[in-house]
Amino acid sequence: MQIGGLEIESNLSLSPIAGYTNLPFRLALRRLGGLGLATTDLVNARSVLERNPKAFKLIETSPQDQPLAVQLFGAVKEVIRDAAILMESMGCPVIDINMGCPVRKVCKVGAGCAMMLDVKKSARMAAAVVDAVNIPVTVKMRLGWDREQVIAPELAKALEDAGISALTVHGRTRDQGFGGDVDLSGIRNTVNAVSGIPVIGNGDVVSPAAAKTMMDETGCAGVAIGRGAFYNPWIFYQTERFLETGVLPPGPSINDIIDFMRRHLDLLIEVFGETSACRMFRKITPWYARLFGPSKEFRKLTANLASRQEFETAISRYLEWRKEFIDEDGKLNNKYLPEPPVASFMRGGNDQSITPPVR
Ligand SMILES: Cc1cc2nc3c(=O)[nH]c(=O)nc-3n(C[C@H](O)[C@H](O)[C@H](O)COP(=O)(O)O)c2cc1C
Repeated sequence: MQIGGLEIESNLSLSPIAGYTNLPFRLALRRLGGLGLATTDLVNARSVLERNPKAFKLIETSPQDQPLAVQLFGAVKEVIRDAAILMESMGCPVIDINMGCPVRKVCKVGAGCAMMLDVKKSARMAAAVVDAVNIPVTVKMRLGWDREQVIAPELAKALEDAGISALTVHGRTRDQGFGGDVDLSGIRNTVNAVSGIPVIGNGDVVSPAAAKTMMDETGCAGVAIGRGAFYNPWIFYQTERFLETGVLPPGPSINDIIDFMRRHLDLLIEVFGETSACRMFRKITPWYARLFGPSKEFRKLTANLASRQEFETAISRYLEWRKEFIDEDGKLNNKYLPEPPVASFMRGGNDQSITPPVR
């Protein structure tokens, strides 16, 4: 996928989930393959300009964490522009402007989703950033504010005219939050509204089949995957293979999943220190546990995780507990296989048949 002057090997992007898709997670994911562009958590452009250490921690990166977009939010054109200039001078390869955050605190100041309500102002802001930097500028938005105000096609066109290099559109409106159905026709209308830039579809891509359906039905150039990366970190690799060959590679074994978790936790410890890392990991283990099949005991054992050593103890105890669900051939009994997540736009379809069970 071509984003301005940047050639990105995979058209599968990581959609930012603030507090989760940080440097350690991105590094762990990139080792599994298939992931193209990733984006940092949204960060307040003003805090970046003030060189606030907390803001810089949010956008921490490393040479292996490429390609990466830094996502800025703010309502003042000059502030976003100057933050983008600073980011470029620090080596950032892509600037993403957030026009999709539904959180009241962000919208109240005219940033995030509120930017969709004033197309001209938002296009002027994008143009100011595009003119000020030499790196590609992208935007992430939703379909609109609510059902009555679906603005994405009009805004997309105005932003393309302003010179942005790519656009991610989450197929929900602001009032839908993160639930309700993703509207593929809304994404398709946005794709049709622009003439040259890639549009990346987003929302509920939780399986390779969902990625293919979104691309086929909307004509989007790629997809951005957020929560699906926590349901299944192998989703990028699997989707890339599936799109290329039509065949799904085998799913991860329980040992693969445990190794991935170890790596993720070790990287979290490197970046945030053991105490904070373990606290953060408590919220992440329930996501991974979905891949395990029966996982009640694992969730219990990691709910108050306080040290790296405790994690190893939890794994050993869990594997012992899980034995009762294993057949003589060493595999999880079929009736305990985890239910794969199904995208809102795939319900009633046959998504499950191509989602690999854990071995
Ligand atoms: C807890 C949470 C935090 C999020 N943080 C961000 C963010 O910082 N920037 C952003 O553009 N989108 C953010 N999103 C939206 C996601 O990037 C994505 O658009 C949305 O979750 C739909 O995609 P998914 O179904 O693949 O997760 C967040 C979503 C959630 C649930």
